Amino acid sequence: MEQIFALFTIFLAFAFSGRCSDDFSRSDFPEGFLFGAGTSAYQWEGAATEDGRKPSVWDTLCHSRNQDNGDITCDGYHKYKEDVKLMVDTNLDAFRFSISWSRLIPSKFSYLLQEPHPRISNPCKLTTGIEPHVTLYHYDHPQYLEDEYRGWLNRRMIKDFTAYADVCFREFGNHVKFWTTINEANVFSIGGYTDGLTPPGRCSIPGRNCVSGNSSIEQYIVGHNLLLAHASASRIYKQKYKGGFVGLSLYFLGLIPSTSSKDDYIATQRAKSFYTGWMLGSLIYGDYPDTMKRIVGSRLPVFSEEESEQVKGSSDFIGVIHYHATSVTNIKSKPSLSGNPDFYSDMGVSFHYFGKIFDFKYAVAPWAMEVVLEYIKQSYGNPPVYILENGIPMKQDSQLKQKDTPRVEYLHAYIGGVLKSIRSGSDTRGYFVWSFMDLYELIGGYEVGFGLYSVNFSDPHRKRSPRLSAHWYSDFLNGTTAFLGSQGITELQRNLSSSF
Ligand SMILES: *[C@@H]1O[C@H](CO)[C@@H](O)[C@H](O)[C@H]1NC(C)=O
Ligand SMILES: *[C@@H]1O[C@H](CO)[C@@H](O)[C@H](O)[C@H]1NC(C)=O
Ligand SMILES: *[C@@H]1O[C@H](CO)[C@@H](O)[C@H](O)[C@H]1NC(C)=O
Ligand SMILES: *[C@@H]1O[C@H](CO)[C@@H](O)[C@H](O)[C@H]1NC(C)=O
Repeated sequence: MEQIFALFTIFLAFAFSGRCSDDFSRSDFPEGFLFGAGTSAYQWEGAATEDGRKPSVWDTLCHSRNQDNGDITCDGYHKYKEDVKLMVDTNLDAFRFSISWSRLIPSKFSYLLQEPHPRISNPCKLTTGIEPHVTLYHYDHPQYLEDEYRGWLNRRMIKDFTAYADVCFREFGNHVKFWTTINEANVFSIGGYTDGLTPPGRCSIPGRNCVSGNSSIEQYIVGHNLLLAHASASRIYKQKYKGGFVGLSLYFLGLIPSTSSKDDYIATQRAKSFYTGWMLGSLIYGDYPDTMKRIVGSRLPVFSEEESEQVKGSSDFIGVIHYHATSVTNIKSKPSLSGNPDFYSDMGVSFHYFGKIFDFKYAVAPWAMEVVLEYIKQSYGNPPVYILENGIPMKQDSQLKQKDTPRVEYLHAYIGGVLKSIRSGSDTRGYFVWSFMDLYELIGGYEVGFGLYSVNFSDPHRKRSPRLSAHWYSDFLNGTTAFLGSQGITELQRNLSSSF
């Protein structure tokens, strides 16, 4: 009898997982679940010097290193009306974009702005029923703040960020309910201050292209100030405005131990603490994880009691950015290139990505999304989650190709993974594809495109064209189709063959 019962359970489990991973439709998601796609200001707007916009640290990094830049990119600044129409065609519930701080407030003296910025306010008022999801800060603080006092390394930034956030809440708050203060705060700190690969490009690791920095301490100082700035903006919102939600976004790797050894298991816990527990622990429990405090010691800033109270509970939702499944191996001695400890030697692990991270072959590993959502649920009390980025890139040579079948397969699999997590209790409330269209990428410039729509960057008009994935997403979102794996994708391709 027991055996039969066990078999029956196994059968049910299969039936259920089969249903979840392949055959599902939009209506399987909870009511009010938001599906969208995203962009960010510097990557999409262009018009870098128009209407008084001043450079951000991102402009400075691109130009000083002589790499691709966002001077024109998709020209979304001028083409937003056309793009809003594409959003409607794609049946998006929500659109994610960011506000350019140095466009809105081009100098220290423009905080008392009387009129809303004419062009920024427009995408906020999407009168189409599409919900705007706005990020205040996406790697692009004004260069004048970096020049004056080194930006996020200085606590003065907390006050300036809060004043900027206040202007945004005041000017656009009637139309915007969802605010993300800071985009992937953890990777901004590591990329900009440990590795120096991303703006503002500071580091002290030998062999890197940095003019100045200190990879032993700066990422921790910046992380601390980001958390305090987020908490301060969130508090202003609660004091002066109402009806919306303020969250912080973090970059998550789907981390699993590379072997069944105890060392790799502990290393994986440590990697989670360093990579995301760093900020999640602060937001949910008001302090850094113990492991981190023990290892980083006096290089890690300390929250005063008052700060801890402010940071704790300051995020109405967690913004999840997720692309990669990663296995973790313990590193026994902790070598660091410079002889000084840095974020990586502190963490003491090596990462092995499934698929390849820099040559654009992302593994389709939706279980990694489930690992992330389960971790947030189990370790941090199941806060509301919006998945703010997920997607795959394609190389330049295939960028203008419209048949992005691997992208459809990836998105389909990951949306299935999200559904599975929701069914096991995760409070995930939205999912955004990165990116709505091809745009200037932080790593990879124009060599890669993540877009549902391709953009012809050789064309002065920056013509947009829907890819297979745009058609697929559109159909999925209006409930026209529930795809049955690759067969359904092939059928869609055939049905649409006249458009390609
Ligand atoms: C970085 O800061 C640490 C701690 O203050 C200090 O010991 C170290 O010498 C600094 N390194 C560099 C490259 O400035
Ligand atoms: C992109 O635009 C350029 C310039 O208008 C044009 O010559 C080229 O054919 C376009 N490429 C594609 C794939 O449409
Ligand atoms: C769904 O979208 C397709 C293609 O965009 C369109 O033809 C169809 O009318 C839409 N159906 C609904 C129910 O909105
Ligand atoms: C393809 O077209 C047929 C006939 O219109 C339709 O029944 C089928 O659902 C379509 N398949 C997909 C995946 O759109």
